[in-house]
Amino acid sequence: MAKQEKNPKKKEKTQKSTTQKKSKSYRIAVIPGDGTGPEVIREGVKVLEAVGRRFNIKFNFTFFDWGGERYLRTGETIPEGGIEELKKHDAIYLGAIGHPQVKPGILEKEILLRIRFELDQYINLRPVKLYPGVWTPIKDKGPEDIDFVVVRENTEGLYAGGGGFLRKGTPYEVAIQESINTRYGVERCIRFAFEYCRKRNKKKKVTLVGKTNVLTYAWDLWYRVFEEVGKEYPDIEKDYAHVDAVCMWFVKNPEWFDVIVTDNMFGDIITDLGAMIQGGMGIAAGGNINPNGVSMFEPIGGSAPKYTGKNVINPLACICAGMMMLEWLGEGEPAKAIEKAVIKVCRDHLKSLSAGKMGYSTTEVGDLVTKYVEEGVEL
Ligand code: IPM
Ligand code: MN
Repeated sequence: MAKQEKNPKKKEKTQKSTTQKKSKSYRIAVIPGDGTGPEVIREGVKVLEAVGRRFNIKFNFTFFDWGGERYLRTGETIPEGGIEELKKHDAIYLGAIGHPQVKPGILEKEILLRIRFELDQYINLRPVKLYPGVWTPIKDKGPEDIDFVVVRENTEGLYAGGGGFLRKGTPYEVAIQESINTRYGVERCIRFAFEYCRKRNKKKKVTLVGKTNVLTYAWDLWYRVFEEVGKEYPDIEKDYAHVDAVCMWFVKNPEWFDVIVTDNMFGDIITDLGAMIQGGMGIAAGGNINPNGVSMFEPIGGSAPKYTGKNVINPLACICAGMMMLEWLGEGEPAKAIEKAVIKVCRDHLKSLSAGKMGYSTTEVGDLVTKYVEEGVEL
């Protein structure tokens, strides 16, 4: 991953700790959550501790039991003062949210989306990177073709909750679901994408993904801002694609992409497709970023209730989320060490990245990554 713009607060901290010689420490809020969340978080924490031992970083983990079980027991999602507690940390590490006994929407909205919104994590950064030796359903494409990043707007659009019912429950019912797009929100997202692209320094191309041919208010705004902000980045190639066409290109020509920027809903959809071409939900990670605040890192897949408690789920996505968290905290070298270990495990060990088909248990995969992190494996 490319170096990112850092929280000025963090920068200060890094500088201070380098002059004091090593032994940095980070406060990490951990929300294991539902289903397989706790199983994958356990492995992620194990790997972070290993990397911490090797690079002399201390992680102070605070665990939060938020999720379906707590909700069913107490009726509470995030307890009072919970968001304030999160703010006392350098980053948040989340497993999964979603419980089969809780009506869809409650936990997602009251935990996951609430954190994204209240901590103003306005970017959802989702790398789509195929590692060597990982199977992709796209024939004739390899790691050199599948390596891009989706910058998904994370606080607005259809997710902002605009709309409502009229005459609910009657035959004349009306349901309105509005997409909220603010100039401010669109601009900061697009600017982030350009900055990120520049630092990533690969193909130097940003593709705006939208639907200008039909959704002519929202995407008119996005397009205008993209053109305007784009002028400040003459070194970066600009492109536009409709979201439906992008679904086609992800499969046919994934090598065309470098950095994609899009709204919340389209970003949600296309990153599931992205996850599949990089080898599946077993490896796909993302970061909910507030460049000036507290960011949250999570595997992008769900809580996988049918695999819960079986020790068969792939923890690599969660481990990669931990890697992104380190990168974001400015710990590039330790992050690289995790990536190398993950690549080695994918290349030399796992039969598949899918739950139950890896040839190893969840714990064993975590142990392998840990071992290679400790050994400092080179590829
Ligand atoms: C994701 C998930 C969430 C989203 C759900 C669980 C609210 O699908 O992180 O992509 O739609 O953003
Ligand atoms: Mn999703």
